[in-house]
Amino acid sequence: MSKTRRSKKDVLEAPTIESIVKYIKEKNAKNIIVMSGAGISTAAGIPDFRSKDTGLYHNLQKFDLPYAEAVFDIEYFLEKPEPFYELAKELYPGKFYPTKTHYFIQLLQKKGLLLRNFTQNIDTLERLTGLDQEYIIEAHGSFATASCVECNERADSDMVREHALKGKVPKCESCDNLIKPDITFFGENLPKRFFDHLEDFEKADLLIVIGTSLQVQPFASLIDDVPDHIPRLLINMEKAGDHKSKSSGFDFKWKYGLNRDVFYAGTCDEGVIKMAKLLGWEKELDELYTNGNKKLKYTYAEIEPGEQEQDKEVDELADVLEKLTAKDDHNDKVAEDKVAKAKVAEDTKASESTKSDNITSTNTTTTASK
Ligand code: OAD
Repeated sequence: MSKTRRSKKDVLEAPTIESIVKYIKEKNAKNIIVMSGAGISTAAGIPDFRSKDTGLYHNLQKFDLPYAEAVFDIEYFLEKPEPFYELAKELYPGKFYPTKTHYFIQLLQKKGLLLRNFTQNIDTLERLTGLDQEYIIEAHGSFATASCVECNERADSDMVREHALKGKVPKCESCDNLIKPDITFFGENLPKRFFDHLEDFEKADLLIVIGTSLQVQPFASLIDDVPDHIPRLLINMEKAGDHKSKSSGFDFKWKYGLNRDVFYAGTCDEGVIKMAKLLGWEKELDELYTNGNKKLKYTYAEIEPGEQEQDKEVDELADVLEKLTAKDDHNDKVAEDKVAKAKVAEDTKASESTKSDNITSTNTTTTASK
């Protein structure tokens, strides 16, 4: 991918969230890319993967796995699907509520400033805010649909859900093979839609990376695909993606003179609330969050009809949610599987693998303890 040279006028004043907000206002940023990870959903009660003590990978002893990530490894799953389905009990999207961070991303869309949200999350909370599907790239797929690993037939979502919630392995009704939710396992290709939108990074005028350890490729390397003069903000509890060279990773100390990377150490919600305050959007963010989750509460039937005034908006949202949950995922999956099979055949022919633009096509960890 081509990189644009840095222009002096675009440099941030200081490595602070304040100067990022000043940049948004003064440069009229309107093509913001948000790259998100599990850290944006921990406040919703969904554990992340790698946090010490609370992360899923640190709590898998009972599964007796050869290494933690094996639970999401396609080869391992085909041999031994039980650990994944045991874990799926805890991970299956249930009655979770999007966080302020999820609503902040939707607010960016409402303001016309969002180019895309590339998320690694499989919990579908982005969809639940009402963020337009067009803006969401679920880079690692989602639990919204599931299919047979052999014949690709789409499985009945209710059946898969029922099995998963009991920790049981669902089987294909046509060929009796394994059913797998359409999430991207290690060793599998990412969704076609992910690759179709990589060119967004050249158009971005700001990159916000939030709630991710940036340890999984190819997702992690995307931070290097925005042009050199484009500011990049990381909001996370800990530093991630620190530089390996001038052209790879964040340079929070502004060592290489591009003066564009900012690290905000704190929770995702604290970070976005701070940004919202500085942008004068605090009230709007609060309203989106409160009203959005109130509607969800109704959809989850935690409030009996009549307890809350039912308005047209609520019904509309329920309709939208229903449509969003299943939309297009399966067609994508079938197309991807075809591409994957063609690719395997191609790879077998070619003795060496070639990679373009540092983007690998399958999911791998940078620091997997394999
Ligand atoms: P990780 O668990 O690797 O990283 C989450 C990051 O978020 C860590 O750096 C935490 O410190 C930080 N964090 C947690 N809670 C936070 C909060 N409330 N505020 C701010 N930061 C917080 O999760 P990902 O980077 O998303 O793959 O993991 C990437 C992929 O690895 C996942 O998509 C998953 C996994 O294997 C698949 O499911 C295929």
